[in-house]
Amino acid sequence: MKIISILGARPQIIKAAALSRAIRNQYSDEISEIIVHTGQHYDANMSEVFFKELNIPSAHYNLNVGSGNHGEQTAKMLEGIEAIILKEKPEAVIVYGDTNSTVAGGLAASKLHIPVVHIEAGLRSFNKKMPEEINRITCDHLSTLLFSPTKQGVKNLKREGFAIDSVPPYTIDNPKVYHSGDVMYDNSIHFSAISDRDSTLLNQLELDSEFILATIHRNNNTDNPDRLNSIFEALLDISEVHDIQVVLPLHPRTKKMMELYLDDQLAKRIADSDLFLVIPPVSFLDIIALEKKANFIITDSGGLQKEAFFFKKPCIILRSETEWVEIVENGNALICDADKNKILAAYDSLSKKELTYPDLFGDGKAAEFICEQIVKHLS
Ligand code: UD1
Repeated sequence: MKIISILGARPQIIKAAALSRAIRNQYSDEISEIIVHTGQHYDANMSEVFFKELNIPSAHYNLNVGSGNHGEQTAKMLEGIEAIILKEKPEAVIVYGDTNSTVAGGLAASKLHIPVVHIEAGLRSFNKKMPEEINRITCDHLSTLLFSPTKQGVKNLKREGFAIDSVPPYTIDNPKVYHSGDVMYDNSIHFSAISDRDSTLLNQLELDSEFILATIHRNNNTDNPDRLNSIFEALLDISEVHDIQVVLPLHPRTKKMMELYLDDQLAKRIADSDLFLVIPPVSFLDIIALEKKANFIITDSGGLQKEAFFFKKPCIILRSETEWVEIVENGNALICDADKNKILAAYDSLSKKELTYPDLFGDGKAAEFICEQIVKHLS
């Protein structure tokens, strides 16, 4: 069967690696995959590096949509994806996560009556101010096969009216919800050893003492001066009070907004601090190396919250809610929003706590399971 995978943003390229690997290793006789890159992320260190390092076949098509307002960006993707689907006539279109590339793929395919497979279905933040929440709700309701990484995701879908006991044949009007486990957990297991072998970043940065890994890229943090300043004040305070290094791989959006919005004195303190290490965005093998070696992770990324859990590190979430409620309920992460005092208090309390890490994200074979169901129901 012919499938089209749509990707565009950094985390999707990584998620797609798990499926491409399962196809290559176990389903190459049954599935032929065409990769469409929307071009949402275009800097080499936000896109190209992942294809090379994660051994993903090069994209067959690149729409080069680049940055823009949401409507403009999504519209360009829709137009491009529709033309490719009409030409290639796939039996299914696979979309990942919750970005503008996800919703564009789901809309283009469903309107052409091509079944949509949504990987990472069912997650909800219950905050529709996030573009991602709108993208994922819309995409779930356009999908035929929905693969939820967590039990909570399945519950969320049930609440929105999805039947959990539907029987084949599955269609957009009779969709199927699976609890598949998380393809990112598959990836963390697979690439952990490869990172140990191949990543040279820790040596390059001469990171041999304790450090906190921090990332910030959500638009409500980067595009709001008060929030951005509050987060950076908290990070600086923690590093100074605890005499611990902070390593911050910087998303291009954050870099731009720091130049615009960061208070001059704060910017100077960061630039002058021996404890603050700001580096360009890093590859997946390098972020795994950082996650494994870090003592603590502070982030507004969904992916890093989970990887903190996979690699058994406490985590502060720089948002007012999370889709990964399990890790908060289990005590491994604390939601602090952009509140400096909460961040400082959370650092103190999580540093002292004994944490447990139960199997919340599957058995590391989610991608194989997903391929099996796609072949069974859509070919
Ligand atoms: C997107 C996703 C978000 C995901 C994130 C991962 C949506 C709505 N959001 O957010 O869910 O967590 O990707 O990184 O789809 N930029 C560059 N070079 C690049 C990419 C971006 O300079 O290669 C800059 C541009 O100034 C752009 C800004 O970053 O305007 C934001 O990029 P965009 O793709 O719109 O959203 P992300 O913040 O990356």
